[in-house]
Amino acid sequence: MILNVQHVSKNFGALQAVNNVDLSVDASTIHSIIGPNGAGKTTLFNLITGAIRPVRGTVHFKDQDVTGWRPQRMAESGIARTFQRTSVFPSLDVIENVALAIRSRQKLAASVWLPNAREGQVMDEAADILLKVGLQGRERVVAANLAHGYQRSLDIAIGLALEPELILMDEPLAGMSRGDRETVAGLITMLRDTLGLTVVIVEHDVGMVMRLSDRITVMQNGTVIASAAPEEIRGNEAVRKAYLHGSFTE
Ligand SMILES: Nc1ncnc2c1ncn2[C@@H]1O[C@H](COP(=O)(O)OP(=O)(O)OP(=O)(O)O)[C@@H](O)[C@H]1O
Ligand SMILES: [Mg+2]
Repeated sequence: MILNVQHVSKNFGALQAVNNVDLSVDASTIHSIIGPNGAGKTTLFNLITGAIRPVRGTVHFKDQDVTGWRPQRMAESGIARTFQRTSVFPSLDVIENVALAIRSRQKLAASVWLPNAREGQVMDEAADILLKVGLQGRERVVAANLAHGYQRSLDIAIGLALEPELILMDEPLAGMSRGDRETVAGLITMLRDTLGLTVVIVEHDVGMVMRLSDRITVMQNGTVIASAAPEEIRGNEAVRKAYLHGSFTE
């Protein structure tokens, strides 16, 4: 188990957005979190990545208690996150976006600015990451001019520049064409199978979630109503009820 969330709660005033949630994620797996709008999925992500502090409960990453750590420290310890709204700098070209992320990681680690001699290494590393996500040949394309699917690939490349062990993605397939969704799904699988990373995704495309995931946790009204392998989730009565008017068809 690489991530262990226990009894975590967060309220916004009277609203219990996340209520006594447990989540355990095994290393080198794809673990999806699904549930209706407002179920608390993004809030749970915010609790795991340190964007907000839990009122109660603990978060352990690699057996270390990281509860309440700030996002930067979380990132340094190996937790990366991609956003629904992309973290790409649109006016910079593709490789410069990745190089920027590598430099900021190195700056964090060393607390000193890089000598110029290391700059070549940064660009080599950036090129290597772009190869992994299938953006080779597009290094000098201005990010704003990338096709939609490739924007998400660049997002993932920027995440990889932090050298994470765990990567969290909030709705990585949102607003994409079927073809682009397949590309990004392939990338997510690659992160697990080739790089050995652990991937936690929040996603509304239940069909894709069923195909991609090793394990699925279902949230509703701030609580976990089921956590199991995809086949078991498919047959779960409480989950079917939660999706009665929704997209739970596959
Ligand atoms: N900063 C905030 N202040 C007040 N209420 C919030 C805040 N963030 C989230 N909420 C509320 O908490 C509940 C859970 O929201 P959250 O964004 O975690 O849901 P979600 O499962 O990610 O939904 P979606 O699928 O629509 O993205 C919602 O009722 C939301 O309105
Ligand atoms: Mg959300």
